[in-house]
Amino acid sequence: MKGIILAAGKGTRLYPMTKPACKPLLPIYDKPMLYYPLSVLQQADIREVLIIVPPDDKEQFERLLGNGSHLGMKISYKEQFIQRGIADAFIVGEEFIGNDSVCLVLGDNLFYGAGLKDCLEKAQQNKTGATIFGCYVDDPRAFGVVEFDDNGKAISIEEKPVHPKSNYIVPGLYFYDNRVVEIAKQLKPSARGELEITAVNNAYLELDELNVVTLGKEFVWLDAGTEDSLLQAARVIQNLQRTTGNYVACIEEDAYKNGWISDREYQQLGRALEKTRYGK
Ligand code: G1P
Repeated sequence: MKGIILAAGKGTRLYPMTKPACKPLLPIYDKPMLYYPLSVLQQADIREVLIIVPPDDKEQFERLLGNGSHLGMKISYKEQFIQRGIADAFIVGEEFIGNDSVCLVLGDNLFYGAGLKDCLEKAQQNKTGATIFGCYVDDPRAFGVVEFDDNGKAISIEEKPVHPKSNYIVPGLYFYDNRVVEIAKQLKPSARGELEITAVNNAYLELDELNVVTLGKEFVWLDAGTEDSLLQAARVIQNLQRTTGNYVACIEEDAYKNGWISDREYQQLGRALEKTRYGK
């Protein structure tokens, strides 16, 4: 399975904060935002990753993560010239995906939870259809919202509904088989002019091949798209790291735990950052 991080948002809604560096490169507490979705792909055991970036910003991303070989990964970059919506990632990434299945994660979504790795590995092993997640939120109106029947089976997904049919929103983490590329190509832009990921999910729902895994309240999901959610995310990460003593989204540690780098390589990466708590 291949992985895609959609990190193409310049973050114009966050100007002037995002004038010097685009949104996915902004820090969330002690590390760039991009580390969080990358760590999710690592935990799903995905080694080959395409990062879709805003035009003109490719070099900054390359400076941060290079070709990924220091993490035992293969990381490549592609610019998205026109922001056409989330589902466009499968069109921009068509060549990269090839004949594989794919996991897409949004560049501003953060996930944390003790059972997360298990959950991701299971989703990764599903060879056909789609697997998405459902997270409980108090106000779901700004998101894709899942409706369930009495047996807990997903029966509809609506994008930003005025009257949501449940409190379960679909976070920015999606697993699809290879048909997603063709499905994305057939989409028509929505009223807001975007190729909607909700339309992709509905296509799988119609085929009866959409698996929605609800994440319990012990899972943390954060969308860092506004100045307030950015600050809130930083506070949550600071608190989690202080109380659990574990680092969230330490990409070097994830690579090491996956057996992608050796003891020596792991130590060298730490030593290069030894002046920081992160490195230590
Ligand atoms: C997008 C998706 C929505 C999803 C959300 C998660 O919303 O369209 O279905 O719930 O990401 O962050 P947008 O960022 O376009 O408002």
